[in-house]
Amino acid sequence: MLTQDELKRKVAEAAAQYALTCLQKDSVLGVGTGSTVDCFIDAIAPFRDQFRAAVSSSERSTQRMRQLGIQVVDLNEVDDMPLYVDGADEIDRGMNMIKGGGGALTREKIVASVAQRFVCIVDESKVVDTLGRFPLPVETIPMARRVVAKRLRELGGDPQLREGFITDNGCEILDVAGLRITSPAELEARINDIPGVVSCGLFAISGADLALVSSQEGVRRMDRDGTHIQDI
Ligand code: A5P
Repeated sequence: MLTQDELKRKVAEAAAQYALTCLQKDSVLGVGTGSTVDCFIDAIAPFRDQFRAAVSSSERSTQRMRQLGIQVVDLNEVDDMPLYVDGADEIDRGMNMIKGGGGALTREKIVASVAQRFVCIVDESKVVDTLGRFPLPVETIPMARRVVAKRLRELGGDPQLREGFITDNGCEILDVAGLRITSPAELEARINDIPGVVSCGLFAISGADLALVSSQEGVRRMDRDGTHIQDI
């Protein structure tokens, strides 16, 4: 029986092999944040001479990549990115995700928006029928905390301030429990529209293109229609 950490390592190794098929010597790779991505960084580091550099979505990932000899460049230096690899807190079969458990959602969304392809790496505990059991992180400008929380309550959620946590952008996170998210892209747009919201942890307007999902049986690919599940 593989532990959750072993499942994360397995999917990270599969993602590194997949990434190598997309990267050229001059490519820049987009790298997300979290414990699964930490395993991905470890798995791709031995192949760092097979791509030019990475763009990072957090100080945490930047530090880990630099320690392992991966060159990290600023997003403003990059025109083109074939691939972005990141974890998720939940993913549904339509490839909509909740992200931001690690608090890096805004930079993740920015880096992902530049990439041609978003590959989500998860263990199967993260695959759900309906998003929302995991509280939805919403990054918020500190002075707007109260008014944003009020608007989130009007949308049916129960927002809680992530105590003692400040994002890499100097902002706060409201974790919104109690949402059963049946129209993820619509809810993402409504939350994005609230003044004071920096970004919302729903990745649905632009979701993942491919998910690699690890389970006791191995790593499988899940494509956009959610029914096309194959062993890899
Ligand atoms: C970071 O802000 C998140 O979006 C992570 O990608 C997400 O929380 C998954 O993290 P783990 O791989 O640690 O579960």
